[in-house]
Amino acid sequence: MCGIFGYIGNTKKKVALMTNKALCELEYRGYDSWGIAAESDKKMFSVKAVGKISLASTSALQGIEGNVAIGHSRWATHGGVTEANAHPHFNGAHTIAVVHNGIVENHDAIKSFLCEKLGNAFDGLFCSETDTEVIPHLIDYFITHEKKTFEAAFVEAGRMLEGRYAVVAMKIGEPYLLAMRDGSPLVIGKGNHEYFLASDVPAFLLHTRTVLYPGDREYLKISADTMLLRNLDTAKKVDREWTTVTWDKGSATKEGYPHYMLKEIMEQSLSLDKAIRQEDAKLAEFAKIMKDSEHLFFIGCGTAAKMAKLGELYVARIAGRLAHAYVGSEFKVYEQFLNKKSTIVAVSQSGETADVLEGLRVADAMNARILALLNVVGSSIDRMSKKTLFINAGPEIAVASTKAATAQIAVLMLIAYALAGKLAEGKHLMRGVVKDIKTWLTPDVSYDIQKIVVKLAKKNDLYIIGRGLSAPIAHEAAIKIQEVSYIHAEGFPGGELKHGPIALIEHGTPVIALIPNDETKRDMESNTMELRSRGAYVIGIAPENSRLFDEWIPVPDLGPASPIASIIPIQLLAYHLAVLRGNDPDKPRNLAKSVTVK
Ligand code: M6R
Repeated sequence: MCGIFGYIGNTKKKVALMTNKALCELEYRGYDSWGIAAESDKKMFSVKAVGKISLASTSALQGIEGNVAIGHSRWATHGGVTEANAHPHFNGAHTIAVVHNGIVENHDAIKSFLCEKLGNAFDGLFCSETDTEVIPHLIDYFITHEKKTFEAAFVEAGRMLEGRYAVVAMKIGEPYLLAMRDGSPLVIGKGNHEYFLASDVPAFLLHTRTVLYPGDREYLKISADTMLLRNLDTAKKVDREWTTVTWDKGSATKEGYPHYMLKEIMEQSLSLDKAIRQEDAKLAEFAKIMKDSEHLFFIGCGTAAKMAKLGELYVARIAGRLAHAYVGSEFKVYEQFLNKKSTIVAVSQSGETADVLEGLRVADAMNARILALLNVVGSSIDRMSKKTLFINAGPEIAVASTKAATAQIAVLMLIAYALAGKLAEGKHLMRGVVKDIKTWLTPDVSYDIQKIVVKLAKKNDLYIIGRGLSAPIAHEAAIKIQEVSYIHAEGFPGGELKHGPIALIEHGTPVIALIPNDETKRDMESNTMELRSRGAYVIGIAPENSRLFDEWIPVPDLGPASPIASIIPIQLLAYHLAVLRGNDPDKPRNLAKSVTVK
């Protein structure tokens, strides 16, 4: 999803090059085009391009020296992937530049407002199809026609915007940057006589670890030495704490692996180990809030939605509590059942997913209690929640969620054990799981799966079945395969096959059967038999081999943590399918790491 960056300092630097590098650090968010604006010799320098930032010729950027620059990586929403639609966007005189992440929902109304006010001067003013372009024109209107200062015009424009946004603006001749946010991520970094603004910390981690997160409907004015944060509606000064980022950028490098996705899959014994090191007291507080609730909900999107479903199953099985899991975008319909005795547990790697945030706003409006299970500290969901547990998986760079998903499973299990008053038992079990994964997950496993993948690479369809705890994993498996291999994949509960999907099975159709040693084993074997009788090519993921399998991927028997053992081979299978089919597994087409639009 879009990434934004801003810089202001007190000495001249190669600001365009610096912005280009910062945007490279945000590449993981997913984008299709990018652009930079900088003030150099009192003139506006700008560049826009479609395609990879890291492949940009930096010679043109090299010569641009100045104190102020802004940059943007765009993931198209309003208007196609073109240079004209790439940010920054400008006013007619090209003196004001704006980058924006989010959506201006009332952009048509603002255009009508400008058309009415500007008359003939409105014709030919807009150069793009984006919603964003209304912002620089609106600021310009307030400066030119209502004689406001740049700051006052920016605030006036901000008050008119409806939707979600993080916006950074610069104006030639003004020694400061302006920014505001409502719903989209924005973080400030403080350096030595310089400030940085970005959608995420990695953009400036090379320069500073001192950060501050502005709240919703706050705007800021930054010069090289001062930063002033105010409420957008009241203009009252807001005080917020600067904090220090403690994690290391080293944990966000490939460390010899060809892709982040493979690295993140292979380091899962480590990430699981970190995930289960939760403080007992924090787990107990979290569980207490859940226990005291009348209604319990889990919400998430994509992979996190499948993990939310597992959360529902775990609290039912381990703690005997009824909960309901929904995808964030469909949660609003349950608004009528929410009150102060309801608890919503948001599951999200990034903590920025717009559909989850929307669900939480609904919950908040009904005075429900918000809890969160996240990877990113200080993210928007973290700031909305009463209590957050962090999965501590470290930065997940590849778009496909792998180590965050298994860490979510581990912490969801611990939450269920805490809710059942059996935390010590849960922790003991999870320590064993980490040991088993460490012994089993070696390069050999990846190599063996690679051999199976050769037989699947030309297939058009792939199905996955599982029951009980493995049913959400069958769905998650489908997402993993779809998003990086681009092969049509679908997951079903094993029992649902004969109610329709079995009609899709032909001679040689690949089906992955998830058969852990649990109460689902016998029924899963029957379902697998039904598939084989119709010619399916069966790949079994199970602790034990079976005559029903054409291929067997052996996994450790992890008891109630079997979803972790089942999903890791699928992550590897999806990864190798992507590579064999010539796809970039780290940056699949059309997808973004952080989905910050509805
Ligand atoms: O950051 P989140 O966990 O909230 O993201 C939710 C989904 O967008 C995410 O899980 C997505 O489905 C992944 N690309 C799946 O691998």
